[in-house]
Amino acid sequence: MARWRRILSGAAAALTVAAMGSLMQSSPAAAAPDGPDRVVGGTTATQGEFPFMVRLSMGCGGALYSPTLVLTAAHCVNGTGTNTSITATIGVVDLQSTSKVTRRSNYVYRAPGYNGNGKDWALIRLASPVTGFATLPIARTTAYDSGTFTVAGWGAATEGGGQQRYMRKATVPFVSDATCNSSAMYNGQVIASNEICAGYAAGGVDTCQGDSGGPMFRRDAANAWVQVGIVSWGDGCARRNKPGVYTQVSYFAATIASAASSLGG
Ligand code: ARG
Repeated sequence: MARWRRILSGAAAALTVAAMGSLMQSSPAAAAPDGPDRVVGGTTATQGEFPFMVRLSMGCGGALYSPTLVLTAAHCVNGTGTNTSITATIGVVDLQSTSKVTRRSNYVYRAPGYNGNGKDWALIRLASPVTGFATLPIARTTAYDSGTFTVAGWGAATEGGGQQRYMRKATVPFVSDATCNSSAMYNGQVIASNEICAGYAAGGVDTCQGDSGGPMFRRDAANAWVQVGIVSWGDGCARRNKPGVYTQVSYFAATIASAASSLGG
């Protein structure tokens, strides 16, 4: 139950913050802020560094799965069906950049059986494909479900803070299910079969509200990025003994792939 609340409040915060986006848009252009004050332990990403990153208008992140499909979190969407209300912004670190590429959605596919507990993934189909951006392949086996991960997004830079104009990035280490579910951490609330934790026991580096739906990724054996997780939930942000909890993409890879092909790729 407590877990439910966290996910729902995250979605509510994301919606509130989506409204704040318009305020941010009217502020004058400024240099990209950077440095140790970028909390959640991150720094500003550089333009072109993560070409597959997507910002969604409801206040979530996502990753380009294909030129027409964005992989995000189930808790970022309302259900499966025709949906032309979402705008995806692609190709920029700065959400106010004049070179941003935007696309409207035309369909949303939410993980079947999603009820707020696990299965936190969804695909958003864009009304027309984007060209020129590398997509982010999903991990098809558990081979990459360990090590050090990169996370990125435009979510809050501090717990309770505002959404960001410039994409931020951070790296977080894998946390085993046993550790993450220990009484010191989530005390059994993590669904070990299909969720994966990452962060530091000491806290300080984490994803946060508004990063939901964005990818957690790492390098594969060929040094290419591969998506291991989807930002899902956490107790606050960057708190001690409260790692981020991510959808374990490898567990759903076959289901995601078949849903993707049924959506036309
Ligand atoms: N549920 C949040 C959202 O809607 C993301 C929470 C991630 N939290 C964390 N501590 N890693 O944006």
